[in-house]
Amino acid sequence: MSFKNNSPSYADLILGINKKVPLISGKMVTAINFDNAATTPPFKSVMEDIIDFAPWYSSIHRGEGYKSQLTTKLYDDSRNIVRNFVNADSSNTVIYVKNTTEAINKLSNLLHDPYKKNVILTTDMEHHSNDLPYRDKFIVEYISVDTNGRLSLDDLESKLIKYNDYVRLVTITGASNVTGYKNPIYDIAKLVHRFNCKLLIDGAQLIPHAPFIMNSKNTEYNIDFLVFSAHKMYAPFGTGVLIGPKNVLDNCDPDLVGGGTVDIVTHDFIKWNESPERHEAGSPNVIGSIALASAIGTLNKIGMANVECIEKKLTSYAISKIKSIPNIEIYSDTSKCVDKVSIIPFNICGMHHALVAKILSYEWGISVRSGCFCAQPYMVKLLDISNEFLIKRLKNPELYHPGMVRISFGLYNTYEEIDILAYALEKISSKRDYYIIKYENMKKTLFDF
Ligand SMILES: Cc1ncc(COP(=O)(O)O)c(C=O)c1O
Repeated sequence: MSFKNNSPSYADLILGINKKVPLISGKMVTAINFDNAATTPPFKSVMEDIIDFAPWYSSIHRGEGYKSQLTTKLYDDSRNIVRNFVNADSSNTVIYVKNTTEAINKLSNLLHDPYKKNVILTTDMEHHSNDLPYRDKFIVEYISVDTNGRLSLDDLESKLIKYNDYVRLVTITGASNVTGYKNPIYDIAKLVHRFNCKLLIDGAQLIPHAPFIMNSKNTEYNIDFLVFSAHKMYAPFGTGVLIGPKNVLDNCDPDLVGGGTVDIVTHDFIKWNESPERHEAGSPNVIGSIALASAIGTLNKIGMANVECIEKKLTSYAISKIKSIPNIEIYSDTSKCVDKVSIIPFNICGMHHALVAKILSYEWGISVRSGCFCAQPYMVKLLDISNEFLIKRLKNPELYHPGMVRISFGLYNTYEEIDILAYALEKISSKRDYYIIKYENMKKTLFDF
């Protein structure tokens, strides 16, 4: 494979890398994707493995046919591949769901006890998916962030002291999808365990970008629950993962019931299956889990430490280029020593974030994301948005939508692509008025040119 060479081209691993897209000028250019935090393109190897497997695709678990047995084996084996990838031991079970959001909703449902007032400790820097699923079932308390958007471990400790007996779960993102900041998850685990509480790490932005150790020799550093999405790690097809202690999950009633979840059922009696089947109602997404296992195989060959190193270099290079462009404000710490994944949030002063994203796409074929990235409470802190403004905005949806532009790299992005981005940003920044007027009343989409 190409990445074994001395100068590997990781772009060769990706499907669709040379696709041309239209510009507003009518020209076609090779698309540049800097929106990997939202979703990554697929590995070619994943698509090839799925094509190879498709003729063997069959029902799982209850078929005696050869194809059923093969499909069942691949599906069950994929759980071990996932477990090994995150260094989880056999006390943990791997439950497949659709995505991170569904995994967190599931865990929230499973831990909910309608007869108890329980507290969830989450943080000010979470994606909505690691906040909203708890609100109707628990008292939700938010660990604060400082003015730089960094999580306060002192506040975590004081909340653990305050709510100790009532804390059902501490849930924290492994890496922010806005600033890219990695949280010190192993120190957090140690602290959380000192209070006999359990920790969930939202790994949506961490697992695709860095090595992860769920279980180590020193159990105080163990991560109790982990969730992540395959579509952010080069494996589309709609699989997400919830990993957690089998003994805990075997004691929770399933939130979704039906075929596959039961061992014995009569009209007036149910004995639930053990995990993971207990929590996977209905026919599962076999293709999705095989795709995830395949992507993990490719990532393992590259090595996650290597992935992290490649992406850190891309990020540092991009920051060094973007930092010097006039009128650009970057919203995360740009010093080299900061522990973060490959995300850079910014704005061009005097321009709306959505307009900047649109111009990058329409004029240069560069995909980025703009807005609040499903992390509005964090955005409010980072942009220092006042309550008065929020109240006004609530009453008037036409009012300005605050937000940022986000660039996020995958391991396949190149320095040449970053050079094109820097050139584009320089042009936009130096000709702000020109672009604002040009796009002011533009209703056309790229499909119209
Ligand atoms: C930190 C974080 N958590 C959760 C999610 C939700 O992931 P999904 O849309 O795959 O459910 C995202 C998605 O961007 C994310 O960045």
